Amino acid sequence: MADKTDQQIPWVEKYRPKALVEIVSQESTIKLMKKFVENGNLPHLLFHGPPGTGKTTTILACARELYGKMFPQMTLELNASDDRGIDTVRTQIKTFAETRSIQSQLPKLIILDECDAMIKEAQFALRRVVEMYSSNARFCLICNYVSRIIPALQSRCTKMRFTPLDPEAVFGRIMNVVHAEKIRCNEEACKSIVNLSGGDMRKALNTLESVHMAYETITVDAVYATLGKPHPREMQQFLEVSLNKPYEEAVDTCWRQKQAGMLSLSDLVVGVHDRVVRLDLPIPVKCVLLDRLAQIAYNATKGVGSDERVQFVALVAALQECRVSTMKVAAIAVQAGIFRPLTAIDKDNNNDEIVVGLLKGAQVDLDNEGKTESKKEMTKD
Ligand SMILES: Nc1ncnc2c1ncn2[C@@H]1O[C@H](COP(=O)(O)OP(=O)(O)O)[C@@H](O)[C@H]1O
Ligand SMILES: [Mg+2]
Repeated sequence: MADKTDQQIPWVEKYRPKALVEIVSQESTIKLMKKFVENGNLPHLLFHGPPGTGKTTTILACARELYGKMFPQMTLELNASDDRGIDTVRTQIKTFAETRSIQSQLPKLIILDECDAMIKEAQFALRRVVEMYSSNARFCLICNYVSRIIPALQSRCTKMRFTPLDPEAVFGRIMNVVHAEKIRCNEEACKSIVNLSGGDMRKALNTLESVHMAYETITVDAVYATLGKPHPREMQQFLEVSLNKPYEEAVDTCWRQKQAGMLSLSDLVVGVHDRVVRLDLPIPVKCVLLDRLAQIAYNATKGVGSDERVQFVALVAALQECRVSTMKVAAIAVQAGIFRPLTAIDKDNNNDEIVVGLLKGAQVDLDNEGKTESKKEMTKD
């Protein structure tokens, strides 16, 4: 039974791995870090990659293994983008690095998070600091975007890239928390948390905790409702209508659905994109559609002054165009006697409902696909 203090710790902290072996997914990085620990020496490090992939966790676990009981005295964790500026950071580093520990001969460790938020001048100042204290300390710089770090700093560090975590790895850890916390969460709900987290373990753990606070039992519906994201059912309906209904009806029905469900345009575009990449559409048609979606996604989030309704109609129009183009390609393929199956089946979900109407009038006999040379007739409704 968890005690009171235990209950107050957010799960991202409570379930942060303490040892390198517990860290999942980042195999080559972890292997290298283990080598450094075995040799009792760290180079200056630069960890980069998206949030929630284990950068802070890895360096903290590494420091624990390297320094053992001396870990708190030997490690300094700072945020490089401290509002008080590089001078404060420099003073803290100076005070920490100048004193040697009598109990340990190892160099101290200074962890500097969010280095990419530092302006260039501050990064140049940091380069000098790294040089000055190299004899007593090792630095681990952490950032999301390595391209924002000046080359002079990059070249002084061993760079390690953290990638979004494998869905299976996130799933495994989430299920461990579900068991440890004895919460009611079915496998499907857990999978939806994993899908929505996009390889970010922090996001996955925070989602699990928020849904748990709001609902007694964690279900797929509870996950989508808590996050305010379109439910797969809503996405399915949106796609079916916008792909298959006549243009005006499609725009009207989908707009009403969007308003009633309070769906955000960016979530809709991302939802459509995730399904389109899995659809078995003719490649040229798919490429055009994905390009349109990228443009609409950009406009929906970054486009200055872009009208939401305009972008929304563009989304439905892109799907309508996809249908027309698919039909054309299907007709040509049939005429040319090419029996490539022109279906648009969701490969992952094995779900062909979406395309019930998509290829009406342009279906190829799938049973005979590739087995016969004879021309196929296009089937009518
Ligand atoms: N590779 C991983 N293996 C296990 N847990 C992870 C991993 N990456 C992140 N986490 C979990 O996600 C949370 C955030 O991880 P953190 O290391 O702070 O991410 P960041 O890359 O943003 O520094 C922590 O609770 C940690 O337990
Ligand atoms: Mg971090």
